[in-house]
Parts: sequence; C-alpha cells; structure tokens
Amino acid sequence: MTEPKSKNIVWSQSEVDVQSRRAVLGHGPATVWFTGLSGSGKSTLAKAVEVSLVKRGVRAFVLDGDNVRHGLNTDLGFSPADRTENIRRVGEVCRLFYDAGLVVLTAFISPYKQDRCRVRSRHPSGGFIEVFVDCPVEVCERRDVKGLYRKARAGEITDFSGVSAPYEIPSEPELVVNTAESDLATCASEVLACLEERSVITAV
Ligand code: ADX
Repeated sequence: MTEPKSKNIVWSQSEVDVQSRRAVLGHGPATVWFTGLSGSGKSTLAKAVEVSLVKRGVRAFVLDGDNVRHGLNTDLGFSPADRTENIRRVGEVCRLFYDAGLVVLTAFISPYKQDRCRVRSRHPSGGFIEVFVDCPVEVCERRDVKGLYRKARAGEITDFSGVSAPYEIPSEPELVVNTAESDLATCASEVLACLEERSVITAV
C-alpha cells in the first residue's frame, strides 16, 4: 500500500467489532469481485445476486464500473494508469463497505492481476471473493449489448479490453462462472452457494 501523503495522521479504531456487526446484520461481510470482459455478464450477474441476497435480508449492494465512472471516477479514462486508479479507489470503497459489515458486489473489467491482487490484500483473509466471469471474447462480441465492440473494431474506441487492450485471466479465483455455457440463474446460484460455503450467509 502506498504511504499517505498526509503526515501526522493516526488510525482511529472502531469500537464495534466484526462479531457485533454480524450479530446485528445476521450475515458476514464480503467483497464479491466479479471480473471479466465487457459484455461477459458481470453487471447482470452481480445484480441478480444482489436481488437474491436482499430478498434473503442480506445488506448487499452492487458497485458497477459504468456507474462509478459517472460519479466517483468521472476524472478517469481507460489508460492503464487510469484503470489502475479506478480499481484502487473502488477497492478502498469495498474495504469501507466490508468494515461496515456489508456484502458488496462489484462489476469492473479490472483487467490487471496486480490491481485485483492489491484489492485482495486490502481485505482480511477470506474477505475478498474473486469471481471470474468467463466468456470468450467472440461471444461477448456477438452479444455486443452496448455496441462497443463494433466501435472498437472500427477504430472509434481505442484501448478496448479484449480487442486492443489486455485482459489478464485470474489464476486462482475463488469461483469461475461460465456465462457462455450456463444461464443466469445457474451462475447466480453458484455465487450464492459460494457465499454459503464461506459462511458469509446461511443456507435457506
Ligand atoms: S476497468 O478496466 O477500469 O475495470 P470499468 O469496468 O470501470 O473498466 O469500465 C468498463 C466499461 O466502460 C465497459 O463495460 C464499457 O461499457 C465501457 N468502456 C468504454 N470504453 C472502454 C474501453 N476502452 N475498454 C473497456 N471498456 C470501455
């Protein structure tokens, strides 16, 4: 972690411990980090899981790449440095959600291993659950929900992940879901099962 620019700052420890928060909320905290190409289904899946979790009384919330770039990260584009800063800031937001005892679900391409690794390192062991939303680029391109692959191929968008910018596949994600082969309900239930196995939530 980079040293803060500010000097003479002291960490203020919360008086509320993790167990107390869990007892009040009825579930544990987690950062569920969906990573994959544009059009792979990260947002759709994160939102489906969010709906199921909220129905079960879990305080869950989705942070979505496109949305965060409308607010917190309006100043960032898609250069490697900007993507790194995007993920760093979002990672810190996740850590705050985590400390609040919530289940945060993120949908960012997050193409660089090192950036994802840094977010993991900002969480207590087991708190960061990386979900690789696996979908071949050809399938994402065929879906082209936002019409961006067409623009990228036409050269109207540069540095487009999977076309003219890299995507580094996770080597040891907690979960891989294949949205080209499995339907949404199946992928969502795999994520929920993963959260149950890790005792973030209790089985219904
Ligand atoms: S990340 O690489 O920094 O993690 P992020 O998830 O925030 O990306 O934003 C990706 C979204 O921005 C895509 O789903 C797409 O809608 C849009 N987008 C616009 N330009 C690009 C680009 N050059 N590469 C990837 N996504 C882009």
